[in-house]
Amino acid sequence: MSCFSSADESAHYGFSVCMLLEQYRRPLRWEEEGVVELGTGDATAISDVVGCLPALRVRSFDISGPSVARARENIAARGVGDRYTVELGDFFDQADAAGGAHVSTVISNPPYIPAPDRDILMPELWGGVTGNDLLLQLLKSGYDNVIAAVASYSDPGTTVRTAEDLGYRVVNFLAMGLDFGPYSNEPKVRDHIRGLCASGRGWADDDGYMVAVALFTRNADIPGNRADMLLKSLQLTV
Ligand SMILES: C[S@@+](CC[C@H](N)C(=O)[O-])C[C@H]1O[C@@H](n2cnc3c(N)ncnc32)[C@H](O)[C@@H]1O
Repeated sequence: MSCFSSADESAHYGFSVCMLLEQYRRPLRWEEEGVVELGTGDATAISDVVGCLPALRVRSFDISGPSVARARENIAARGVGDRYTVELGDFFDQADAAGGAHVSTVISNPPYIPAPDRDILMPELWGGVTGNDLLLQLLKSGYDNVIAAVASYSDPGTTVRTAEDLGYRVVNFLAMGLDFGPYSNEPKVRDHIRGLCASGRGWADDDGYMVAVALFTRNADIPGNRADMLLKSLQLTV
C-alpha cells in the first residue's frame, strides 16, 4: 500500500474547497459545526486550507495506513493538528458511528478510478466499475452539503442525476483540466475509461480529463442549480 500522490489534483481540490467554504461560509455553518472529510491522503492540501481559515475544524478519515501516517506528519509540520485530525478507517463505518456533534458538511476528493475490479495500482482509489461508487454512497449518507471532486470519466451524468433525485442541487463548482496521472494511465484503467467514454458515460481525450470540485446542497438557504453547467464543463452532452 502507498499514499495517494498527485500534486495538481490535490492543489485543485484544496483551493476549490477553500473557495467554496469561504463563499458559502454562513449557510454551510462550518464555523459552528466543523466539517468531516472522506479520504485524507497526505493531508497537504486541506492542511493549507485549515491554515487559511482560522475557524475551520476538519475531522478526516482514510483507510490507508501509510496515508494516515504521512498525513499526521504533514499536519504536525504545518502546525494545524489542533484543528485537523485524522483517523484510520472506513469513513462510512466511522464518521457516523462516532456519536459526536451534528455535522452537515462533508468534503472529499473521493476515490474515482473506474476499473472492472479492485486490482489496480492503488486499490484504495478504486471507485467501482463506473468510478462513482463512493461519491454516490456519500450523497446517500445524509449530509446536507457535499463538497466533492467529480471526474469527467466517472459517469458524472449518473452522479448529478442521482444527486438531484436525492434532493441536492449543484450550487457552484470549480473545474480544471488534468493530465492522466499514474493511476488513470495504467493500461487496464485507460482501456476501461475509453470504454466508458465510448458508451457516453464519461469524457476524456488523449491527454487527460476534467475534474470539478462541486458543492451539492439540500439547504434551501443556498439558492441556484448549476447541474447542467457542471456537466457541460466536464464536456458531457446535457
Ligand atoms: C483521491 S485520494 C484523495 C486524497 C486527498 N484528499 C487529496 O486530495 O490529496 C482518495 C483517498 O481516499 C481514501 N479512501 C478510499 N476509500 C475510503 C473510505 N471508504 N474511507 C476513507 N478513506 C478512503 C484513499 O486511501 C485515498 O487516500
